[in-house]
Amino acid sequence: MATASFIANWKMNKTLAESRDYLNKLQKLLPARAKSGDQVILASPYTALASLAEWIRASSLEIGLAAQNLHFAAEGAYTGEISSSMLYETGCRYVIVGHSERRLHCGETDEMIAQKLAAAGIAHLVPILCVGESEREREQNKTVAVIKRQIKKGLCLGLSSKGHENGPLDLSDCIIAYEPVWAIGTGKTPTPFEVEKVHREIYDYLQSEGVVSEGMPKILYGGSVNEKNISAFMEKAHIDGVLVGGASLSAERFVQMIELGLEAKETVCTS
Ligand code: PGA
Repeated sequence: MATASFIANWKMNKTLAESRDYLNKLQKLLPARAKSGDQVILASPYTALASLAEWIRASSLEIGLAAQNLHFAAEGAYTGEISSSMLYETGCRYVIVGHSERRLHCGETDEMIAQKLAAAGIAHLVPILCVGESEREREQNKTVAVIKRQIKKGLCLGLSSKGHENGPLDLSDCIIAYEPVWAIGTGKTPTPFEVEKVHREIYDYLQSEGVVSEGMPKILYGGSVNEKNISAFMEKAHIDGVLVGGASLSAERFVQMIELGLEAKETVCTS
């Protein structure tokens, strides 16, 4: 079985000093079984990436680093933007693409997201593609249709048998995060059963598109995950990990969630 993933999305939080402090705490508190293999990934603001990479290299931790966004162009006159190769150079190896906060506040479209995924692939960054329906779409029973559209357009499925027309994006190296928009930062979540059902739909869809011969991408759940609900999500066979926002800002809470999540996954695997 693939290892579970626990991604902390810090969003626009944490100064350099606070990032250092967080890492020190992870080094002390993280259980040995979560210290290797990039099971734990920190998605920090751009400003902390290079320093975090250096501190991680100098520590006993083998955890991954993710940026929260990238620009699709390789370089050029895009004031305020950051390219995939710049991110790679900082030491980061993952990048969140298409988070609903960016779709909503920054006008990111499925087409822009497709270009960003291609840019990530070219720079050998593993993209964490976020998909999810709004509350209205859920009420209209459009969840699966919306997610399929976001995946199809984002990954340009149907355009190339290798999954993407624009870049060497290997689907088995992708991470997909199902994050219902209405569950992000609200304390509301779908039931683990509902999430499992959506994840199965994603699995089946990718399989039917014939693009996963080299292995399935990991599919994570995100949206108001905390120490109280993580076990129930991780007990589900098709939930490969979690993307955590608010509750990941405390290192102690994040470590507790990792411990509970790993425990739940082990129970599933041995039962
Ligand atoms: P949340 O955020 O855990 O605070 O709901 C999740 C996310 O936005 O990735």
